[in-house]
Amino acid sequence: MRSHGKGANRTILDCLFRRNGGRKSGFSAAAGAAGAGSLLRGARLRGSGAVPLAADKKGLEIVTTASSADHPTRRDFLYVATGAVASVGAAATVWPLVSQMNPDASTVAAGAPIEVDLTPIAEGQDIKVFWRGKPIYISHRTKKQIEEARAVSVSSLPDPQSDEARVKPGHDQWLVVVGICTHLGCIPIAHEGQYDGFFCPCHGSVYDTSGRIRQGPAPTNLAVPPYTFVSDTKIQIG
Ligand code: FES
Repeated sequence: MRSHGKGANRTILDCLFRRNGGRKSGFSAAAGAAGAGSLLRGARLRGSGAVPLAADKKGLEIVTTASSADHPTRRDFLYVATGAVASVGAAATVWPLVSQMNPDASTVAAGAPIEVDLTPIAEGQDIKVFWRGKPIYISHRTKKQIEEARAVSVSSLPDPQSDEARVKPGHDQWLVVVGICTHLGCIPIAHEGQYDGFFCPCHGSVYDTSGRIRQGPAPTNLAVPPYTFVSDTKIQIG
């Protein structure tokens, strides 16, 4: 059996001979004739790129494939596959280390406190976060919004409550409320409605910049969740 040139893929016969240490004696002529015949027929039938190159001394037709040495071999593929698995393995090792530092989803859903960095919230903006599966609105109120909330007569409100009682002392600009309408539970839209607070499109309840009900069927103000300032720019809810 001959080598078929540098880089050419070896045939099944090549492999069988090589397994035998390259000795033809371990691969009898009879077996070679019978086995090789069927193997070669299989090779011819199987590979669309299989082409006959030459015949050996016994007249056996040598079949090889037309692929070149530039094509990736099975060994290359194994190296690549092994490398890919190693990379994924490394990433999978790091992820649990990072992930385990956060409370898991069931703990958060069960009511674990969450911390919110207020730094990115510009004056006049609102963000919505979730705590215990509920939407929580955090509003960075402008001076005008605070003044409007405090200008109203508290006794005239459907659910009388002062604005000061709904925010934390020294943090008048921050309003934190549960974003669930107290009528039937829709989620109101921030910065909507004639009081520039929250508007519930389901049945038209209107809340002011303190989250207090001013118009519509909602019976009470938007709830204020339990929260504390852990620093000037960070709150903990829950
Ligand atoms: Fe909001 Fe009815 S659910 S007004």
